[in-house]
Amino acid sequence: MTGQESCRFLKFISHLLFCALLFSFASWSFASDTRCDLIPLPLSLTTGDGVFHITPQFRIAVEGKGNERLLRATDRMRQRLAGRTGIFFTSNTIEPGKNLGNGGLSISFERTGRLALHEDESYALDITSEGVILKAVTDIGAMRGLETLLQLVSAVPGGYCFPAVFIQDHPRFPWRGLLIDSCRHFMPVDVIKRNLDGMSAVKLNVLHWHLTEDQGFRVECKTFPELHRLGSDGLYYTHDQLKEVIRYASDRGIRVVPEFDIPGHSTSWLVGYPELASAPGPYAIERGFGVKDPTFDPTRKATYKFFDKFFAEMSSLFPDDYIHIGGDENNGKQWDENPAIQAFMKKKGLKDNHALQAYFNERILNILTKYKKKMIGWDEIYQPYLPKNIVIQSWRGEESLRDAAQKGYMGLLSRGYYIDLAKSASHHYLNDPVPQDSVLTPEERKRVLGGEATMWSELVSPETVDSRIWPRTAAIAERFWSPAGVRDVDDMYRRLEIIALQLEEFGLTHIKNREMMMRRLAGGMDIEPLKVFLGAVEPLEGYARHHQGVTYTSFSPLTRVVDLAIPDAAVARRLEKLVDNYLVRREPNSLDLINDTLRIWKDNHQRLLPLIRRSPVLAEIEGMSEDLSLIAGAGLEALEMIVAGQEVSSDWILQKKELLEKAKKPRGHAELVVTSAIGKLIEAVSCTGQTSQTQSEASR
Ligand code: ACM
Repeated sequence: MTGQESCRFLKFISHLLFCALLFSFASWSFASDTRCDLIPLPLSLTTGDGVFHITPQFRIAVEGKGNERLLRATDRMRQRLAGRTGIFFTSNTIEPGKNLGNGGLSISFERTGRLALHEDESYALDITSEGVILKAVTDIGAMRGLETLLQLVSAVPGGYCFPAVFIQDHPRFPWRGLLIDSCRHFMPVDVIKRNLDGMSAVKLNVLHWHLTEDQGFRVECKTFPELHRLGSDGLYYTHDQLKEVIRYASDRGIRVVPEFDIPGHSTSWLVGYPELASAPGPYAIERGFGVKDPTFDPTRKATYKFFDKFFAEMSSLFPDDYIHIGGDENNGKQWDENPAIQAFMKKKGLKDNHALQAYFNERILNILTKYKKKMIGWDEIYQPYLPKNIVIQSWRGEESLRDAAQKGYMGLLSRGYYIDLAKSASHHYLNDPVPQDSVLTPEERKRVLGGEATMWSELVSPETVDSRIWPRTAAIAERFWSPAGVRDVDDMYRRLEIIALQLEEFGLTHIKNREMMMRRLAGGMDIEPLKVFLGAVEPLEGYARHHQGVTYTSFSPLTRVVDLAIPDAAVARRLEKLVDNYLVRREPNSLDLINDTLRIWKDNHQRLLPLIRRSPVLAEIEGMSEDLSLIAGAGLEALEMIVAGQEVSSDWILQKKELLEKAKKPRGHAELVVTSAIGKLIEAVSCTGQTSQTQSEASR
């Protein structure tokens, strides 16, 4: 081999080893056996004997006429099945009729479902070697069953099949949502549509669409056109686009609940209508993030006249029973500083800003009621004298949800489901809207309707948003759908990796965009070393990215290493597991995989350096890449000592721990997340209890 060839060969081998680690914990079994790797897991599943073979003669029948929605959903399902299996089906029509018997999928349902809270979403799926029978009360339930069926597609020698199972299923909670913030960064219609597809695949049923904010007013408003004309930089949804999204969601059994966040978070509204603010304008679209001062004036008749007309238009545009009025984070500064508002509060006996906001909410509620809408808002809107049909969405703590339920209000949990915080899927997964030790009575528990994952968009763009939503949101979807006792984190991660690949069918970009972004960063060079590096890195958790010495605005680039680091780095998570396995059971297989990974990381810095030299944008990770090599080296040394049963001096341990501490320092708004696994190896090395000096004296 020439030097160049041997280098290429080494690269190939290191790539293989890295992939071996990457895949070691994933069964990827939807393509290799017939296990039921469903997410969310159903209420009950009984396995039968044999399989149903999917052949070109596969037929589908839907009983009952006139349900175009289910016919379209079935058509899409067949198309995805063909795409997944590569089978050319001979029949491409959905047949009418009851039971196809041999060779087919027979779907029946009793009635068209209404897209409303508490609609029946149950289904039963009976798969035998003879055929597949899907029964549901509503077409929406049948659609949920079709998604289950698609997740069951399995490969067997010679073809594809559905395993024989009998599933009876319905959701634990009726409100299972995903909030998408289209304001801090505008999300084009295609982004929303592909995420609706993802939602339907994991049985989420509410798109909570955050449409107005300080940073943008995103809805065309015909009554007050200066709202979208001056408040959006031209980035807003037209009525036709909104209707298109609502129709698309409805076709997937998903409700669309719009949020118009008032009275705070409202700068963009006031650009065109400054006279409605609590302080004189002019106002400009906000570019920074955080809690801002501009707030509607709740004391003026004009404000309510405006909202009456505004909600008249929005109520006819959005068909859902609910409209979300936000209500969060009004800092009250403009109210405190406005003498007319202070005089109004005195006259009305409103003792503080909370009471003034409650007054505002009540007047807004009257307007919504006039237009036959129900009100939902963040927990700040909670007031014990509002009518009991409002919904409180808890983001600050479980207590508000508990208090609301005890006082007779319905509620949703979002605290613990903030996917913008870059926390692990397991963190969200184990967070329960009604935990086992909940003090709520059975009656009060029923008032907890479910929850919503929240994709706030300060730090995501259309290019990265999917990677922040998926696949972690599938774990949250399981929490909302499956029985409370389904809590096996390892099994969840195993299934999460399977659904992550299936979700790509919809054009979701959570996996594919990363390589594209790496190519951009690598300036034309091989991205492999960057990919290896990113396996050990996560974005900073929480809101720490906002405190790293630069101020993010809506114009900031979201194209750096941190933006393609994944919140729940799979390679790092698997390494931790392997280390735990090895330290407890001394498994040789785990040992090999740990060694392989650490060796690749140890050598990676030298491989990444040419990219860093060529792409100044990568300079910010140079120190972190070097630290990864150093701590991987320390891990390898530790492993060698453990295997050999060799003791080390306390100096050695101290020195390695210092390396680890240094490696923990965030750089480029990201951090190395393998320090804990390597730290465990170092801790596991036996220490003589002597410093190197006393040790060498003793051995003399
Ligand atoms: C919120 O996160 N301010 C609802």
